Amino acid sequence: MSDSVSTPETAHPASTPGESIRRTRAKGEPRFPDGPKADPAGSHFERRIRSFQPRRSRVTAGQADALQRLWPAWGFDIDGSRRLDLAAFFGNDNPVVLEIGFGMGEATAAMAAADPGTNLLAVDVHTPGQGHLLGLADQRGLSNVRVGNGDAIILLREMLAPDSLDGLRVYFPDPWPKKRHHKRRLIQEEFLTLAAARLRPGAVVHCATDWEPYAEQMLEVLTAHPAFENTRADGGFAPRPAFRPRTRFEGQGLEKGHVVNDLLFRRVPHGERAGHPV
Ligand SMILES: C[S@@+](CC[C@H](N)C(=O)[O-])C[C@H]1O[C@@H](n2cnc3c(N)ncnc32)[C@H](O)[C@@H]1O
Repeated sequence: MSDSVSTPETAHPASTPGESIRRTRAKGEPRFPDGPKADPAGSHFERRIRSFQPRRSRVTAGQADALQRLWPAWGFDIDGSRRLDLAAFFGNDNPVVLEIGFGMGEATAAMAAADPGTNLLAVDVHTPGQGHLLGLADQRGLSNVRVGNGDAIILLREMLAPDSLDGLRVYFPDPWPKKRHHKRRLIQEEFLTLAAARLRPGAVVHCATDWEPYAEQMLEVLTAHPAFENTRADGGFAPRPAFRPRTRFEGQGLEKGHVVNDLLFRRVPHGERAGHPV
């Protein structure tokens, strides 16, 4: 018996943890009937340039089980169809921090456990990671994690209210090292302007990367953006703060000898920078 569900074409989620059933799905039958949709925003919100690469995904039986059981209460599709009521979704008015691209979610779960008074809205397009994070939240009894499936740009643009976020975390975004792919990098002026419109004054944008040219780009665009100011008096990179655990992707970079840089920038009060409507 296989412990994984290997391809979207032949996969069917396990009915109980540890058990996997292989059968061919009927045409049009969803992969996870009560779980994340394959293409939540559909063509209506198609973005030509995406910061992520669609990946074939192997979902383990445990991840499939977590998706089936927990998605209806703790997951949401980023389909651009409605404004999220964050207080209703989390069941309280605690501050909400958005994490874009949580990968497999180990760092997210650790941060949620360490800070139960902060709600974490964690989004990614990667189905196994969504299942993994839901499973971790369940095992650890975390009630402050919700998982979004889809493109974070559509979430920010269509589904979040102005001033609704108390922080934004982007840890080890895809580096897109080739010059022709630089336009796919997430941290750019246009993205920061969109994020600024959803972040409360005082909220911190926290980025980290092990790709030094991208770190330089992040520092440049964040420093130049009128809605943000560096929390570092010297205007440079920050050391990894104690609250950010080492992530999976970071570990791979460190093994290759990469240098990791963190950046922490604060959303300035509305209209504070003279001459700039921010
Ligand atoms: C290089 S991985 C890093 C994962 C994790 N933060 C870590 O450090 O291990 C980047 C992740 O960002 C996700 N991602 C990239 N662009 C995204 C977007 N626009 N919306 C949601 N997730 C995105 C990718 O699917 C991928 O899982």
